[in-house]
Amino acid sequence: MQFTPVHPVFGARVTGVDLRRALTPAEAAEIDAAMNEYALLVFPNQMIDDEQQKAFSRNFGTLEQATGNIQTAAERRLDMEMADISNLDQAGQVFARDDRRRMFNLGNMLWHSDSSFKATPAKYSALSARAIPSSGGDTEFADMRAAYDALPDSDKALVDDMVTHHSLIYSRGLLGFGEFTDDEKLKFAPVRQRLVRRNAMTGRRTIYLSSHIGEIEGMPRPEAMALIRDLVEHATQRQFVYTHKWTLGDIVMWDNRQTMHRARRYNDTGEVRDMRRTTVEDVAPSLAQAA
Ligand code: OGA
Ligand code: MN
Repeated sequence: MQFTPVHPVFGARVTGVDLRRALTPAEAAEIDAAMNEYALLVFPNQMIDDEQQKAFSRNFGTLEQATGNIQTAAERRLDMEMADISNLDQAGQVFARDDRRRMFNLGNMLWHSDSSFKATPAKYSALSARAIPSSGGDTEFADMRAAYDALPDSDKALVDDMVTHHSLIYSRGLLGFGEFTDDEKLKFAPVRQRLVRRNAMTGRRTIYLSSHIGEIEGMPRPEAMALIRDLVEHATQRQFVYTHKWTLGDIVMWDNRQTMHRARRYNDTGEVRDMRRTTVEDVAPSLAQAA
């Protein structure tokens, strides 16, 4: 395998591997080590199907159930191990402008870390481009190690031991979407996460930010949200951001412990964008891991 950096601080393009077939343990270990180092890997020209994508992700942990949406089981286009990041309903039609599922999914345009709203959040996400629009629909990624390192020492000391609360209700609220059923409110009840994490393999610290954050323990809410905004603004300065322009067949895998990402705008009521994500869980809640 060849690894070619795609950005000055993180990310690499990987060639010399075919993700349609089973990886050897040595190949899986090489990719895992590269994930810890680069935090994001781009695998171009990998036209794989859902089963192959799931098998690829399983090399790195337990597949997460795709429960982070408001689709009912009967409305799903894909199975529970595939997160549907498309703009399509079960019949393959693009969502209408005022469709509740579309409005909920627009939350992906806010900077986030996948499943930070789950007690045990996501480790690696792998997103595969099965259909892309003629323009727009890039994905941006930001390196939370570089962002942490660049904080002034006084800010590092301020945030190092903070505990945050994450929920899908908080991130959707930022876009003015607040119509949740009682069942959804229970399903999306806030979870606690560390604000600063350490990568056990590399020892590097990361700032664990996400638009799902709605509270910092021990702080009045407006003060907490103003601080989180400030930190997100700092962490997403252009020098920490890689923009991925999709080509059909790309697979991008990122480490949610070390990066944030967001979707960019496209004509989602007129063009099809079929992206499918497999996600592996972290080994434990962030608070159960070493600071
Ligand atoms: C995701 C996600 C962004 C995009 O797959 O988790 O946030 O550009 N995707 O679709
Ligand atoms: Mn995401």
